[in-house]
Amino acid sequence: MGDRQAEMISIDEAIAALKSGRVVALPTETVYGLAASLFADEAIKQIFTLKGRPSNNPLIIHISSLDQLFSLCAPLQKAIKEDVELLAKNFWPGPLSLVLPANADKVPTIARANLKTVAFRMPKLEITQKIIEEAGPLVMPSANLSGKPSATEASHVAEDFGKEFPIVDGGLCQKGLESTVLYCDDGKWCIIREGSMPKEAFLTVLGYLPEIASKKKNQQEPLCPGQLFKHYSPKAKLTLYEHIPDDYNGCLLGFENRHYPKGCNVRSFGNLSQPETIAENLYRVLRQLDQDGIVSAAVDFDLPTDGLFSTLRERLMRASQ
Ligand code: TXA
Ligand code: MG
Repeated sequence: MGDRQAEMISIDEAIAALKSGRVVALPTETVYGLAASLFADEAIKQIFTLKGRPSNNPLIIHISSLDQLFSLCAPLQKAIKEDVELLAKNFWPGPLSLVLPANADKVPTIARANLKTVAFRMPKLEITQKIIEEAGPLVMPSANLSGKPSATEASHVAEDFGKEFPIVDGGLCQKGLESTVLYCDDGKWCIIREGSMPKEAFLTVLGYLPEIASKKKNQQEPLCPGQLFKHYSPKAKLTLYEHIPDDYNGCLLGFENRHYPKGCNVRSFGNLSQPETIAENLYRVLRQLDQDGIVSAAVDFDLPTDGLFSTLRERLMRASQ
């Protein structure tokens, strides 16, 4: 861990802080989040400022029941409502966010960045569920400075923010990658941010593989504002290689079960046969580069394209931009 310290608080203290309109960092099964009550405008403003987040990038509302979702979204068409119930039954609590039309009277404009839609997620970690049950719906962007790799342990949050707000330490995040964000375009669900729920998971539930989409059919504006911004990048400059040059002898981010040119300083994401472990390690390995003062690294980008690897490829591409 870096040398920055933060105050660690209990679950009860977090509930009290959130209820009184303060910002708190919470663990989830994906990454740590920077939480505020959905109804605490000042705290939500503070989150944008602390992260350096553009005000046109909306936040996900974290809920603990489907009733909360139905009270915060606009009345849904029957087929969409049935899909939401089906997706929730199969994937919630879990690393999936759903974008739906907002109930504009109930969801503050600041949380949804003035959009007509709003994203919902029911996180899986029990302590976080308990906090939401007690404190009500929470907005929770990833607890990292805008543009940096997300935080998968409490020390990462402290590294970015020091003592700005207290943290509930839930240990390591089990998934290590953010939730997958789904959007319903003309009755068909598409993925607007890849995440720790791979697209193949939806095939049996929806009956089709959702497409990965960046724009709405025949329209210009992006579906997921967050995808416009710089993301997941360490200070170190990353270069992706399908084939590591034979004479390369610098820092190399790679995999346990691969052989690399002699003289490389290899840092491992894990074993290629275990994409879940690679996901869990990704942001820690990227953050460690900066902690160790490494200015550039090669990345072994000879990766499969299916399942979680699709998300891992997307994160590494963005991290290297
Ligand atoms: O796993 C996660 O989703 C984590 C944990 C803490 O729950 N949260 C997270 O939040 O990743 P954040 O704010 O870092 O990323 C949310 C993404 C952004 O890219 C944002 O643009 C998009 O979701 N988003 C939020 N509301 C949206 C909406 N109404 N329409 C389209 N995209 C939306
Ligand atoms: Mg984020």
